[in-house]
Amino acid sequence: MALKKLVAGNWKMNGSLAALDEIKAIAAAAKANPGADVAIGVPATLITPAASAAPGFAIGGQDCHWNASGAHTGCLSVAMLKEAGASFVIVGHSERRTDNHESSAEVARKAEAATSGSLMAIICVGETEAERDAGQAVAVVTGQIRDSVPVGSTGANTAVAYEPVWAIGTGRTPSTGDVAEMHAAIRAQLIDLLGEEGTGVRILYGGSVKASNADELLHVPDVDGALVGGASLKAADFVPIIEAGAR
Ligand code: 13P
Repeated sequence: MALKKLVAGNWKMNGSLAALDEIKAIAAAAKANPGADVAIGVPATLITPAASAAPGFAIGGQDCHWNASGAHTGCLSVAMLKEAGASFVIVGHSERRTDNHESSAEVARKAEAATSGSLMAIICVGETEAERDAGQAVAVVTGQIRDSVPVGSTGANTAVAYEPVWAIGTGRTPSTGDVAEMHAAIRAQLIDLLGEEGTGVRILYGGSVKASNADELLHVPDVDGALVGGASLKAADFVPIIEAGAR
């Protein structure tokens, strides 16, 4: 049975209080399209105002620490995100793996902390262009899944996002055949790791998703949603992607 699609936005380091109107419009579109789940990961400073502006709509963070508290300057715990109003957190985004040198082992600890603290985790994986050119994309990504997804993850508390690094913010996307091949490989790895529960973990595609390609990408086999960067910042761009996910 097809899983209900999750159309999630990742605002990255974008947005201010002035953007709350976009959140409100996106939340209204989510309500009007109950066929898909919708969520937005905002900068930590916007979690509380966004959650207050759109009650009942899923607002999340973009990173967390695995410890509950302590000497970790600049970091946020799962409990802090939750208290601020988050219901999920994105972990292991390629920008953090690159900029902050996060390893898959660390990503797994973050995901484990998130789900233990009742935040849904969206765990990101994806190959670089050099890795794809070398024919290593599937091996790299399934390895990241094995090392980043904690044993005990469930379809209810975890989603995975396949985001080829070379497709993020570039306007380039893999062919639907390549997306299908990768998502099937990720599904097999999830089942290997989690057993039957692995069939229920949603696998999102991310990387240059926009209104004009969302329908096609969202209906590739084993694509259970999208993780959208640039095109999630404005309701006018994001709402057609929500509608595609709900179809
Ligand atoms: P773009 O949609 O801007 O390519 O970003 C994708 C992404 O990194 C979402 O996490």
